[in-house]
Amino acid sequence: MQEFIASLPKAELHLHIEGSFEPELMFDIAQRNQIEIPYKTIDEVKKAYQFSCLQDFLDIYYAGAGVLIHEKDFYDLAMAYYQKCYENNVIHTEIMFDPQTHTERGIAFETVISALQKARLDAKEKWGINSLFIMSYLRHLPEESAFETLKQSLPYKKWITSVGLDSSEMGNPPSKFKDVFAASVKEGYVPVAHAGEEGPSEYIWEAIDVLKVARIDHGNRCLEDDKLVNEIVKRDLALTVCPLSNLELRNTDVITNHPLKKLLDKGIKATVNSDDPAYFGSYINANFIAVQEALDLSKEEIITLVKNSFKHSFATDEQKKSYL
Ligand code: HPA
Ligand code: ZN
Repeated sequence: MQEFIASLPKAELHLHIEGSFEPELMFDIAQRNQIEIPYKTIDEVKKAYQFSCLQDFLDIYYAGAGVLIHEKDFYDLAMAYYQKCYENNVIHTEIMFDPQTHTERGIAFETVISALQKARLDAKEKWGINSLFIMSYLRHLPEESAFETLKQSLPYKKWITSVGLDSSEMGNPPSKFKDVFAASVKEGYVPVAHAGEEGPSEYIWEAIDVLKVARIDHGNRCLEDDKLVNEIVKRDLALTVCPLSNLELRNTDVITNHPLKKLLDKGIKATVNSDDPAYFGSYINANFIAVQEALDLSKEEIITLVKNSFKHSFATDEQKKSYL
């Protein structure tokens, strides 16, 4: 089964590039930028990666991203993730990036997007990997800041497919970003949002009704509301589920209780993704293997999950035809 999973060409739809920052690369970049980090060894870093909730993780994730300064830093970060895509047989990936994590520290939007664009072209040439970018607004910041980010993105609009919403979910409902999402859609960006990871099912309702998302990131807590489940099925909205992220952030107590199979059984178009693989210790194949073993998923169910990702990707129809 492990070989079967590894051999399948896959798409990844939920991946934060800042969450793919491996400690080894973080040390290298910190050293060349002469930035102190609070760890002396890789072992110390790995020990610090024990989280009790989303916020616990986010604090460490933003601190890690703080060593990224120059275009080359972002380029190296992205190329390291594309290398993992190649190793995991990911042929199409939709990468989220958090501009505000960097612009708030005085890094230009252009530095980040130019590096990502260069890496995208090089990964296509080197490994044949197709990728799209999802610009994610940080929901703990005011909507005004998201508007500023939208404005900064406009000169690079042709490189960005979609807008997302991430960071601290509780207390920051999707409706807080109603206007900036409407403005983003007007600019041609496809809307997605994290909802129902830690937050209640009401936040998923807001993501679909207020932000009018084309996909829901996580969405696990939809299972608490039958009417919502029916609506998600009716509207054919996919969920980008991240099993080992859910485990590491304690949204799932043990992997055998993960809701992925329940979602599939209810007819929801679930997909499997790694979220922040460097922090959760697992890329996409490991996520598939973990749920396959824990939930006793059949080969057919694995194929359904993989096909869901391709079908619900933002690839062109022509690309989708070649993938499926
Ligand atoms: N949830 C919310 N925000 C995030 C995540 C996540 O899993 N990863 C990076 N930012
Ligand atoms: Zn995420």
